[in-house]
Amino acid sequence: MIKEIRQWFGDLIVTLVGMQWGDESKGQTAYRLAQLLDLDFVVRYNGGPNAGHTVVTSQDLAGEGIVLKQLPTGILCPKAHSLLGPGMVIDPVTLVEEMDQVAFRGVVVDFSRLTIDLRTPVIWGLPKLLEMMLEQAAGPNCIGTTNRGIGPAYALADLRLQLIMADLLFEERLRAKMEQIVSIVQQVFRLEVSAEQLTEWQKQLLVAGEQLAGCIDDVGHEIGARLRKGQRGLAEAAQGTFLDRIYGTWPFVTSSHTVAQGAPVGLGVPSRSFDRVIGVAKAYTTRVGAGPLPGEDDGLFGSHVQGVGREVGSNTGRKRRCAPFDGLATAHAVKLNGADLLVLAKLDVLSGLEKIPAITGYRIAGSWTNVFPSDPADLPLIEEVRLEQHRGWTRDISQCRRFGELPPEAISYVERLEELAGVPIGFIGVGPGPDQQIIRLEAIERAG
Ligand code: GDP
Ligand code: IMO
Ligand code: MG
Repeated sequence: MIKEIRQWFGDLIVTLVGMQWGDESKGQTAYRLAQLLDLDFVVRYNGGPNAGHTVVTSQDLAGEGIVLKQLPTGILCPKAHSLLGPGMVIDPVTLVEEMDQVAFRGVVVDFSRLTIDLRTPVIWGLPKLLEMMLEQAAGPNCIGTTNRGIGPAYALADLRLQLIMADLLFEERLRAKMEQIVSIVQQVFRLEVSAEQLTEWQKQLLVAGEQLAGCIDDVGHEIGARLRKGQRGLAEAAQGTFLDRIYGTWPFVTSSHTVAQGAPVGLGVPSRSFDRVIGVAKAYTTRVGAGPLPGEDDGLFGSHVQGVGREVGSNTGRKRRCAPFDGLATAHAVKLNGADLLVLAKLDVLSGLEKIPAITGYRIAGSWTNVFPSDPADLPLIEEVRLEQHRGWTRDISQCRRFGELPPEAISYVERLEELAGVPIGFIGVGPGPDQQIIRLEAIERAG
């Protein structure tokens, strides 16, 4: 079976992308795919330390998991090289801390296993300060960001006022750029940065730069060279489709391209080097932070999945808001990303529910629709969602490894979600462990 699966995935870069509002289990899925396909490299192309990808590895006998924020999941696969593309924004200080944390868990990270693109915009004290001020100024209309400086780091880059990773390698260049950026931002925004504060920020960046120096290089060139050698890799997205800066539920989004189309530009690699797009969705929906969540459920269903699924943000510790699987949103995400196949995570969390709802329509301003609206302003206007009720199952499914071993109710639920999403479901997560998944070769082959 492995041979057929590897053949289906092909030799080009596979893109793994979230089909919901983030936390779909991209990290665990990336780990499983990297193992299954014996991948040579894993790259991140968007976001920064706003991500929290929890991965339980085969060595992690206690099943505690490691939360990765900026490092790609490949760092946990001994054979794979990890790359951070220039479509990301990187906080070098917390990246060094993260490297220490994984090292503490027995994972060696050095420049022979990690490449960081030299053009990547840097998150430092100024973007973090700006984010705090922006969220405070917005008051009740705040986005509920992760407070990692993501938005302002991208915004400064858009304003051509960015520091990039390469600046960290040249002390004088770094100091001069930081002074210039702070001076301009101080004149435009109502903020003051003391000379001591600026010196402290410079010091922090220089220390981190020294530690990362051996890793800073050209990611696009390196991926190109690896592909020419016949190596195979995975682009691991952060966040989810509905947090994309253009295609998400604006303005309650993040500031990067979370969709698969972000990968070529976010890595500096031609689009023809990419082929399969794999979407990851949970068997229900969650969202952290503010913004619309169609069918949000604080009742029996919501509290079941919140509790059993341990739906607490792996990055910020905030409770994740819960809703049923959304057929409209997922079908839209599948089309937008061009997903060939879906990974359905956390099916086990639904065990024990008498009934399982799934969303099949929205009523907006009096009219029913079964198409996800293009205008984000329509989302807060959803008055009601149409729910389809599925029969639940009581049996624990976490030990099932074949589709046929699932209770008939679970099988028909998955088959219906496949219909709603409009794409075959090739992998099903039945637990957080490294091997707790069902692989459906039949569905993968159906994906063409
Ligand atoms: P990501 O941001 O998309 O990588 O997802 P997170 O790591 O933030 O959240 C997914 C959570 O679900 C993590 O705690 C995983 O350990 C856990 N998980 C992943 N797959 C499964 C599954 O199939 N079943 C269960 N019960 N937990 C899972
Ligand atoms: P992973 O990769 C879930 C949300 C924040 C907030 C909005 C903007 O683990 O799926 P930001 O700090 O990015 O400016 O916040 O986006 N958000 C996430 N939600 N999972 C994530 O990452 C997220 N990264 C950002 O909660 O609503
Ligand atoms: Mg997460």
